[in-house]
Amino acid sequence: SATMRTTATGDVAIGGVPLAEIARRFGTPTYVIDETDVRLRCRAYKSALPDAEIAYAAKAFLSRAMASWMRAEGMSLDVCSGGELAMARSVGFPAQRIIMHGNAKTPAELQKAVDEGVGRIVVDNIGEINRLAALVPIDRRQKVLVRVTPDIEAGAHPKIRTAGEDQKFGLSIMSGAAGEAVSRVLRQPRLQLVGLHCHLGSQIDSVEPYELAARTLVSELARIRDTHHVVLPELDLGGGHGIAYLPGKEGLSPERFADSVLTAITERAAGLGLPVPRLIVEPGRAIVGTAGTTLYRVVAVKHGGSRTFVAVDGGMSDNPRPALYGARYAVRLAGRVSREGPRSFTIVGHHCETGDMIAEDVQLPADLRPGDLVALAATGAYHHSMASTYNLMGRPPVVAVHNNRARLLVRREVDEDLMRRDVGL
Ligand code: LLP
Repeated sequence: SATMRTTATGDVAIGGVPLAEIARRFGTPTYVIDETDVRLRCRAYKSALPDAEIAYAAKAFLSRAMASWMRAEGMSLDVCSGGELAMARSVGFPAQRIIMHGNAKTPAELQKAVDEGVGRIVVDNIGEINRLAALVPIDRRQKVLVRVTPDIEAGAHPKIRTAGEDQKFGLSIMSGAAGEAVSRVLRQPRLQLVGLHCHLGSQIDSVEPYELAARTLVSELARIRDTHHVVLPELDLGGGHGIAYLPGKEGLSPERFADSVLTAITERAAGLGLPVPRLIVEPGRAIVGTAGTTLYRVVAVKHGGSRTFVAVDGGMSDNPRPALYGARYAVRLAGRVSREGPRSFTIVGHHCETGDMIAEDVQLPADLRPGDLVALAATGAYHHSMASTYNLMGRPPVVAVHNNRARLLVRREVDEDLMRRDVGL
């Protein structure tokens, strides 16, 4: 995280707040989010892509504070459910700056999106075109993007690749489904087709897949012009920009993305005699990933087989990513200094599953012991938002740090919360 520092007493501080103090005030496990880092990431995107629209992908992490920060930073918002839409609107996030996604938007979600007046709705299947048109009041036109699949395999893990032919998202260019959707939207007087969308996948570190997607989609815009005599003004290349989970890794910076993608779009548009479309990007992880840290307390240390296990008070319910995607993380001791040399540990969780691992074979001081705090870096994206209550463990709180102060954004889920929805006997 941009503002992680070592304090005079050897503790780790984020946003100027020592992690031991956070553990004392809010308990463990706790998600800590560095507001400064989030805001700086937004600004980095804005300055790398001054003419583009930057829509933060809310699925990475959303809370009322987060939605307010995005509003204040002039970001747009990508939402993919009625719940995310409701959260955004509850803090007055401007509906015009919201893009509604989803491969299975229910009639109720479409209705809500239209009622709230969201800026754009992204069509993901042919059937929803007529259903959506029927919901739009007679005196309005709903702006629409069509999500296409450019047949590109990119993304850190097969489960987070979304632009190939054999997966559920978008409409295939190759099969003609995308072209069919475009024709149908153009025939609907209550819908206004403003562009094409694609999302390649997630945790992508290289620019090549984006350049390829940009060229493919600009070519599609030209084909639409030739077929339908309309020039669509927008090109949404989705999100997926990789971040550095481990030291020595780089991720995909907004500058590197901007340099190559803007060139690809401009060149292809010029070659086809098209005006340069306005770019939309939807980074989620790249905005909030490195800003997050999860703070755990060590409960037990156990020598088993060939390794030493460190069991902490959280696990796959607050971080399912190792089990789902084989994700790896950097861990460090917090709250005290150790003069011991490093030793290899495997950090495991509190859950009743062998696959409940947080970090395998990581180096930590050899005297690591119960009661110690450990901090897992780069847990801001897809941790709180994917948390579950498995084993009836309440979800951790979210604490924001900013300018040497910590404040609670989302409180810890307690036993009473866990039983509140259980209404039958
Ligand atoms: N736009 C669309 C249409 C998306 O589906 C997604 C992510 C994004 C933008 C943002 O992608 P990002 O920039 O955050 O990579 N749970 C997985 C990630 C799933 C992402 C799904 N869609 C993980 O923990 O890695």
